[in-house]
This record gives sequence, C-alpha cells and structure tokens, in this order.
Amino acid sequence: MTFSSSQQIVLASGNLGKIKEIQAILAGHPIVPQSAFNVAEAEETGSTFVENAIIKARNAALRCKLPSIADDSGLVVDALNGAPGVISARYAGVGASDQENVDKLLEELEGVPDEHRSARFICVLVFMEHASDPFPVIAQGVWEGKILHHAAGTNGFGYDPVFWVPEHNCASAELPAAVKNSLSHRGQALRSLTQLIKARELSWQE
Ligand code: IMP
Repeated sequence: MTFSSSQQIVLASGNLGKIKEIQAILAGHPIVPQSAFNVAEAEETGSTFVENAIIKARNAALRCKLPSIADDSGLVVDALNGAPGVISARYAGVGASDQENVDKLLEELEGVPDEHRSARFICVLVFMEHASDPFPVIAQGVWEGKILHHAAGTNGFGYDPVFWVPEHNCASAELPAAVKNSLSHRGQALRSLTQLIKARELSWQE
C-alpha cells in the first residue's frame, strides 16, 4: 500500500461541518476537499450507509486520481423505523435546510414520549487507495442518544440541536467541537479508520 502520512487524500464531501470535524481528527494528513478539484458530489443511490460511502469514495478517487476518503452518515430513529437514515440530509426534501429537516423530525415525533425517542448517529467511512481498489478500508461509528422535544445549542450542524447526549445531559449542539469529536459517530469512525489503515500497511509490509 502506498498510503503514507504525507500522502494527499481527497475528501469526498462538500459539507463544511464534516470537513472541519474530519480535518481536526486526521491532523497531519494533507486533506483536500473534492471541491478543490471541481468534482461534484456523486449521487447517493445506495440504500445503506456503506453503499453510499463506497459510491462517493470511488467517484472522488476516479476524478482526482488520488486516494480518497468518503463518509456517509445520518440519524436512525427507532420510533420512525430507522428514518431519516440514508436520506437524513434531504429528509424534508431535496435541498432542505438543517432547520427544515429538524422541524420535520420534531413533527414526526410529536406526542412520542421520552422513553420511545431513542436514536443514534451512524457514520461509515471508506478509504480507497484508487478507484478500482477491490478491498476498501471500511470503518464505522455509532453514537447513541435520544431526540429532544425542542432544539438547543448552536454548535455543530444537521440534527445536533435535537440530539440529546446522555454522557453530558445536553444537546450535541451545546457541546464544544472537541468534546463532540471525542464521543461522536464520526470521531469513532475516524479513529477506527486511522487504526485500520495503519494495520493494513503493517500487514502488507510483512
Ligand atoms: P450525508 O452523509 O452527506 O449523506 O448526510 C448526512 C446527514 O446526516 C447530514 O446532512 C445531517 O443532516 C445528518 N448528520 C450526520 N452527522 C451528523 C452530526 O454529527 N450531527 C448532526 N447531523 C448529522
């Protein structure tokens, strides 16, 4: 494997919130968003997080001719049978704002009592060495919480204002970025991805 700490990696995301969180954790690697190469986001046609992450990573590696990392993430709510799931970013419709998605979620959960508001953020991260890599590195992270009745806090993005974090008894949007990174689905998946990439490099050198 040719991946080393100085290797430039293209990140298949245009979401500024995610780019900031990923850069903070993968500090040391030169990460370039695919937008720097004028690459548009691939269409997310999969029905699972892992399928969508692979689609995005392959597209970025193909267009930029660089190793790539893509994530697919979202919120899974038990009382909604797993929704919004892979359509978390467009739950209230294509192009919906974070506020519109949050409003729709709160509407759908109106009248649902606290004990049935369990939910989790999921993040799947995929590293591909090149576009036809047959053995991508896949890592995942899960962050358990509950959906609040009202939004709170201004940090983060997406559903952070309505995601209650049991460890801190507050909304995810009330946590400083470093605290969120230490707990979150994306933080877990990134730390795991880093370890898995290192383990693979070592095993391939033996
Ligand atoms: P995608 O991974 O770009 O398909 O979109 C994931 C969507 O899930 C985001 O647009 C958010 O709505 C939601 N999401 C994923 N991770 C987080 C998070 O850390 N906080 C809040 N919302 C998130």
